[in-house]
Amino acid sequence: MGIFDRFTGKQEQTQARAVPRHIAVIMDGNGRWAKKRGLPRKAGHKVGAETFRTIATYCKDIGVQYFTVYAFSTENWKRPQDEVDALMNLFRTYLREAAETMVERGVAVRVLGDLSVLPPDLLRQIDEVHALADTLGEQAATASLCINYGGRDEIKNAVRALARQVAEGTLRPEDITEDTIGAQLYTAHMPDPDLIIRPSGEIRTSNFLLWQSAYAEYYFTDVLWPDFKPEHMDAAIEDFNRRSRRFGGV
Ligand code: IPE
Ligand code: IPE
Ligand code: MG
Repeated sequence: MGIFDRFTGKQEQTQARAVPRHIAVIMDGNGRWAKKRGLPRKAGHKVGAETFRTIATYCKDIGVQYFTVYAFSTENWKRPQDEVDALMNLFRTYLREAAETMVERGVAVRVLGDLSVLPPDLLRQIDEVHALADTLGEQAATASLCINYGGRDEIKNAVRALARQVAEGTLRPEDITEDTIGAQLYTAHMPDPDLIIRPSGEIRTSNFLLWQSAYAEYYFTDVLWPDFKPEHMDAAIEDFNRRSRRFGGV
């Protein structure tokens, strides 16, 4: 509770609210949302994709610079083929929209993960979106979609890349630092997440941003992702703002 509460009106208070620079979300609970309604799981993913649009826009509007979502894990290939196909189609639809609107909206959309095994047409869409993202300036907000993302897989790839440089003689083992490792990760161009939100009642990371989350604040809620509204984001941010981040200090 700060000076703003006492001296400014409600509206100014909202504007003065501190927002985390980087918010990440494990978008979970789509399947259970559908099941509760007697619908196929993919119906939950469709509504979950709408929620993503709403919340990504909300985050940009309130001044969050980086918004990162876990959309498909390296483990999610185990799901039935028709569910995987439905998810890939939702990614296609979203990326098409992103290509059409991201420049005018000032949001750089990026896809993080091992993209090498994605269907070629999806890969082409991702390349197109990344090329557009590269044209946006420093001022643009960034929305990142993690697809075929796994934290362990990401670290394994980073280790391989560094090992290759050592083998080639271009890197000495003693020159490997936390920064050189961080620079090999998909998130090399962004700060670590400040706040990681997991809806749906599960209290685990499920392999999300393992390296980057070292000092993230976690927020768990029972709300299923398709039901997640801007007011739930507000509640998470309020909770975040009440925490004392010490980063190991006092
Ligand atoms: C999250 O919802 C979306 C993905 C993992 C792709 P789930 O599909 O995991 O939903 P639940 O956990 O089964 O409810
Ligand atoms: C994590 O959710 C992955 C995504 C949200 C994309 P899961 O539903 O796959 O995780 P588990 O199986 O509950 O750990
Ligand atoms: Mg799940």
